[in-house]
Amino acid sequence: MRDNQDKDLMKKVISLCKRLGFVYQSGEIHGGLQSAWDYGPLGSELKRNITELWWHEMVRSRGDVVGVDTAIITHTDVWKSSGHLKNFHDPMVDCKKCKARFREDHVETEICPNCGGELTEPRSFGLMFKTFMGPLEDDGSVVYLRPETCQPIFAQFQNIVNSTRKSLPFGVAQTGKAFRNEITVRNFIFRSREFEQMEMEYFCHPNEMEKWYQYWIERRFNWYINVLGIDKDNLRLRPHDEKELAHYASGCTDIEYKFPFAGGDGYGELEGIASRTDYDLTAQMEGSGKDLKILDKESGKKITPYVIETSGGLGRTFLMILLDAYREEEIDGKERVVLGLDKKLAPVKAAILPLSKKLLKEAQAVEEMLRPHWPVLFDVTGSIGKRYRRNDEIGTPYCITFDFDSLEDKMVTIRDRDSLEQIRVKIEDLVGIMSKLMTVGWERQN
Ligand code: GAP
Repeated sequence: MRDNQDKDLMKKVISLCKRLGFVYQSGEIHGGLQSAWDYGPLGSELKRNITELWWHEMVRSRGDVVGVDTAIITHTDVWKSSGHLKNFHDPMVDCKKCKARFREDHVETEICPNCGGELTEPRSFGLMFKTFMGPLEDDGSVVYLRPETCQPIFAQFQNIVNSTRKSLPFGVAQTGKAFRNEITVRNFIFRSREFEQMEMEYFCHPNEMEKWYQYWIERRFNWYINVLGIDKDNLRLRPHDEKELAHYASGCTDIEYKFPFAGGDGYGELEGIASRTDYDLTAQMEGSGKDLKILDKESGKKITPYVIETSGGLGRTFLMILLDAYREEEIDGKERVVLGLDKKLAPVKAAILPLSKKLLKEAQAVEEMLRPHWPVLFDVTGSIGKRYRRNDEIGTPYCITFDFDSLEDKMVTIRDRDSLEQIRVKIEDLVGIMSKLMTVGWERQN
């Protein structure tokens, strides 16, 4: 189990993110925009890898789930119908002295936790980002940026059923941006105002709701361990108690990770699996006047399906992956920092390292051989030891060294990031060997 009690772990990971190009603060040269983040060259690759693994697991590998990609700017009536316009508010209190703002349920006394000043009465603070469609800024042109990716799925339910001819049970998945004007943002990308979600709504017969609820809890929990390679001891399932449940939900279980900054018992939410009954479809039906019922083949009657939702955050998964992978080790008396990323997640799969600048041309031919298959990196500056360390730090699983002997024997050396073992292989076999390494891994390819 990784030591998440290291209080400096967050600082180290945040600094690594900026230095190596995983995450930068948005608008940094202008003083920075709080809680909006730009993903750099390595971060955008890692983010894409996570999304693709999720999409494969939830959509492509299944016959019962389809995907959609809906607009961020959404018809106001979608949010009126869902209840967001009325209910998506947090009651807030402000400190009259230091002007800090807090969620009412986050302060235990009537004085400011920062300075002891007097707090205002609670006031409602809307979480939706409002904008105007078209040239006029009047009430008729108000639209909202979606605060979650799932609601447009309910609003498009009829179209999706008509065009796919799906029958119960089936799911609809979507990944993408969501926006919430959160009162407090903290802990780097953990809570921000612009973020990405990975959500799936699974429509089923009301009688089967419990079965699918349990199925998706187990399935989603195992994804973090078996696909992303996260340390199981740092993950847990936390069922909500009655008081926490939204009024329409009959059950909700969070998947949580032991983040180093999380307060309380040290766990923070990654994903929620919720049994949402027929609340959302009924709400969109009432708001639109359209029939969103579907034929139940068994009874021959039209019913409003129940929904099990799996709703995860991409930024939080990204942060957990980096925290879980970060290691400091001592090798031959020298410290190395390693991102022990699963090879499926690693932004760069192999680095090609010519031992000398005199070998550039021949080593580049090796790079060109691999590049159509994997994202690879060509690194020629600094000692070979330094180049190994740089690649360990960004999580590159394999380093391929081209030396002077390579000119004669047409072979290169592959070094494994984790075991530090090396093997010498023929250049003509390299694509096949890398394929094997990328699928079965180092231990099993020999
Ligand atoms: N459709 C249900 C829904 O949106 P949620 O619990 O509000 O549920 C789901 O959000 C997930 O989205 C959370 O578990 C979290 O991973 C992510 N998320 C929510 N708000 C976020 C924020 N402000 N910043 C980053 N991620 C957030």
